[in-house]
Amino acid sequence: MNAQRIIHPPLRRRGRFQDKVVVITGASAGVGRATARAFARERAKVVLIARGQAGLEAARREIELGGGTAISIALDVADAKALDNAADRIERELGSIDVWVNNAMVTVFAPVDEIGADEFKRVTEVTYLGSVYGAMAALRRMRTRDRGTIVQVSSALAYRSIPLQSAYCGAKHALAGFVDALRCELAHERSNIHVTAVQMPALNTPQFGWARNKMPHRPQPVPPIFQPEVAADAILFAASHRRRTVPVGASTWMAEWGQRFIPGLLDKYLGRTAWGGQQTLEPDDHQRPDNLFSPVDADPGAHGDFDERARGSSSALWVEKHRRTLGFGVLAASALGTGLWFGTRNRRAGLAPPHAH
Ligand SMILES: NC(=O)c1ccc[n+]([C@@H]2O[C@H](COP(=O)([O-])OP(=O)(O)OC[C@H]3O[C@@H](n4cnc5c(N)ncnc54)[C@H](OP(=O)(O)O)[C@@H]3O)[C@@H](O)[C@H]2O)c1
Repeated sequence: MNAQRIIHPPLRRRGRFQDKVVVITGASAGVGRATARAFARERAKVVLIARGQAGLEAARREIELGGGTAISIALDVADAKALDNAADRIERELGSIDVWVNNAMVTVFAPVDEIGADEFKRVTEVTYLGSVYGAMAALRRMRTRDRGTIVQVSSALAYRSIPLQSAYCGAKHALAGFVDALRCELAHERSNIHVTAVQMPALNTPQFGWARNKMPHRPQPVPPIFQPEVAADAILFAASHRRRTVPVGASTWMAEWGQRFIPGLLDKYLGRTAWGGQQTLEPDDHQRPDNLFSPVDADPGAHGDFDERARGSSSALWVEKHRRTLGFGVLAASALGTGLWFGTRNRRAGLAPPHAH
């Protein structure tokens, strides 16, 4: 894992999330850590949730040193009661929860027949149920005020599974089903609470250094790899716009559409490429601690070991964020082009414009 030193930009004078209460699960590392920094920069009051004290304290300290406001709460998201108690404490200490980001996850890298029943259960309890419990705790408070936003951190793997991550892919697929059902119920109630999902591509996070791995080599994200700050940017966008989903990166878009049209071909292609593609050439140390049942007592920060290969921006995300402006631009350009074409044609044919008569 990579304890990188990052120079963080200063707080904005007037932030997009000024004084909003934002809860982030899995905020001590990876995407959650980058997202916590980004919300703090926008002057939100950030609540950091994770299990490991070292990462949580470091995350809180760096936000406070930068002039931001944060509290940290150590809990396991698989414990529904602990999450609900935390939500009570947050509202008592900071005020109404405005945004709840479900981000915590664990995974196991191994083929199905090498994953134990207890491991399947644990990945499901953290990655699926942890988000369901988070949504329940948030909704219980947001419903009384009829406002608030729940951001579900999703994945390309919520639509298209890959080998060696069956437990995680299953949990992410289950979450997509849960989120759709919840959206329908909120629509039925004509609720103003907004639920949005951000579909992530491969990201350079500590996940690949501390996840349980039964493969011979160290795990790696399947390229193209993006930095967690790209994910954080998309999460802040999703939290401030009423989009149903925000796909990040062309690879996510391709996974979703590929699964709709050529799922069988993808089974074969991924069976051939994503086995080796998820492992580096470096042998893994199978004695190292992993984060499946308890936290690794370390502060890895937001980035993993793949800085040299990771991209710091995504043009597909830029297009997604600006698609309305781009849509208007294309319409305006088409209208202008059509007008010019008719004008030229009429002049050539010697026709006077209608208002001249
Ligand atoms: N990295 C990728 O390539 C990728 C791709 C697509 C989607 N995503 C999504 O991005 C999100 C973040 O992933 P990441 O790669 O940033 O993961 P990560 O680097 O492994 O960080 C996971 C975070 O979750 C916390 N966590 C784990 N188990 C927990 C539990 N039981 N209770 C509370 N907190 C727990 C961890 O802290 P503690 O261990 O201290 O609790 C840590 O803060 C996930 O939803 C993942 O599905 C990631």
